[in-house]
Amino acid sequence: MQDFKDKVAVITGAANGIGLDIAKTLIRQGCHVVISDIHLTDAQARADQLQAMPDASASAIAIACDVTDVTQITALADAAWAHFGHVDALFNNAGVGAGMSPAVKTKDEDLRWAFEVNFFGNWNTCMEFTRRFTKQGTPAHICNTASENAIGWPAPYMAGYNASKAAVLGYTGMLRMELPEHISISLLCPGWTQTEIANSGALRPEAFGGPKPVREMLIEGDVTPYDVETVGAHTIEQIKQGSFYIFPHYAARHLAEERNNEISAAFEAQQTDVDDWQAHDTRTFFANMMTAKNKK
Ligand SMILES: NC(=O)c1ccc[n+]([C@@H]2O[C@H](COP(=O)([O-])OP(=O)(O)OC[C@H]3O[C@@H](n4cnc5c(N)ncnc54)[C@H](O)[C@@H]3O)[C@@H](O)[C@H]2O)c1
Repeated sequence: MQDFKDKVAVITGAANGIGLDIAKTLIRQGCHVVISDIHLTDAQARADQLQAMPDASASAIAIACDVTDVTQITALADAAWAHFGHVDALFNNAGVGAGMSPAVKTKDEDLRWAFEVNFFGNWNTCMEFTRRFTKQGTPAHICNTASENAIGWPAPYMAGYNASKAAVLGYTGMLRMELPEHISISLLCPGWTQTEIANSGALRPEAFGGPKPVREMLIEGDVTPYDVETVGAHTIEQIKQGSFYIFPHYAARHLAEERNNEISAAFEAQQTDVDDWQAHDTRTFFANMMTAKNKK
């Protein structure tokens, strides 16, 4: 997607943080935005603020959606299409930090909450919009929010969060190959950013144990979070340039390189038989399968 002017973007988890900054960038570029969040009052307040920005050049509406509930995801899509007549981009951004604890002490309810929002919520929203974008047949874009934790540093005490974000990376890379040509997709991997994510526990639904304080995760002065305004404009620019991986923050590069270098070194040390590797390359199998399917 090279131009967002007069397009319509739905952004989940847009009442705060990264989603809100993406919305600000889009509305300044003439893109109508659907501010979606778990509570309507927050989403409506943000939509009103965006609409009132002096440099806003499009409209903002609010639609509540808890991404852990598939019926609400369908209702979000129905309402967005009903209001604007078309939707051209999904920013699949809603996510929670499920608190910090050693993996062996992680409570089942926190693990399930992290996965229900960060993975299943992301997956279900992505699939709902993919089906509709496919049917609509016009150029569309999906931006899935993962994290630097998905591509590099598996941060200690955040096993559930890390695993849920790695799962987003896993399926987004696959979907990239399956999507019809008119739908592009990207993976947003921010570094540590100053947002409300450390307070996610305040919104934890009763089904996952109810609200809980989560502020314990940060020790003042340990690390300087990136300003949230480093994310929105960078993300939109990279989508326009056709990037799949979107990295707003340089610090994440070192984390990814460390892991990639370790993987390369392990192959180097363990594998010397290089003669017939192509015969075992599973990409051939999948390429043939996709060609056969496309011929049908
Ligand atoms: N802040 C960071 O350091 C950082 C780093 C990497 C990735 N991320 C990811 O960026 C995304 C945005 O997070 P953020 O940092 O802006 O956090 P944030 O808490 O400021 O914003 C997240 C928003 O998601 C909403 N939300 C929570 N549960 C929801 C649900 N079930 N349905 C719909 N909305 C829900 C919250 O109400 C909130 O408005 C998340 O996916 C997060 O994992 C954040």
